[in-house]
Amino acid sequence: MIAIYPGSFDPITLGHLDLIERATRLFSRVIVAVLRNPNKTPLFTVEQRLNQISSATSHLPSVEVDSFDGLTVNYAQMRQAGVLLRGLRAVSDFEIELQMAHTNKTLSTQVETVFLATSNEHSFLSSSVVKEIARFGGSVDHLVPPHIAMDIYQCYSQIPQFPNIPTPRQ
Ligand code: PNS
Repeated sequence: MIAIYPGSFDPITLGHLDLIERATRLFSRVIVAVLRNPNKTPLFTVEQRLNQISSATSHLPSVEVDSFDGLTVNYAQMRQAGVLLRGLRAVSDFEIELQMAHTNKTLSTQVETVFLATSNEHSFLSSSVVKEIARFGGSVDHLVPPHIAMDIYQCYSQIPQFPNIPTPRQ
């Protein structure tokens, strides 16, 4: 059985990676699929994220990294995957994830959504939390792999903390 693990992964965190590692024990192939989403302004380009995920999963031979446009179920069917994998951290995730699973079921009855509970130590962790901490100068070394932490620090060192405030005319 092939599973697709779709998401934004901006950036991938230790929580995502824990889920991927556990999924490799359940599925013959796990395709980590980054959505090319024109509606979001990400910190990292899709190509950067693909590279980050590839290096972080290079020790897992059954993991493939790819990107996709459009509907996830269409991509899943194109890749002959029977499962969409999603992580559940807390009850707050459940409502939106269940809605997404139901929506996807109306689009294709061939693809099942499988939820994996995230490990307890990652239950608070999200890409947004990582970006928030790094933006305000905190360490994210315990939240993402080392090479991704370096990418994040580099990114934020290039982004001004505060927008330029125009000086009033004299
Ligand atoms: O990491 P994210 O941002 O929570 O991932 C959300 C994602 C990419 C899985 C979801 O937005 C998605 O599947 N988008 C593709 C469009 C789609 O298929 N929509 C129908 C399901 S609501």
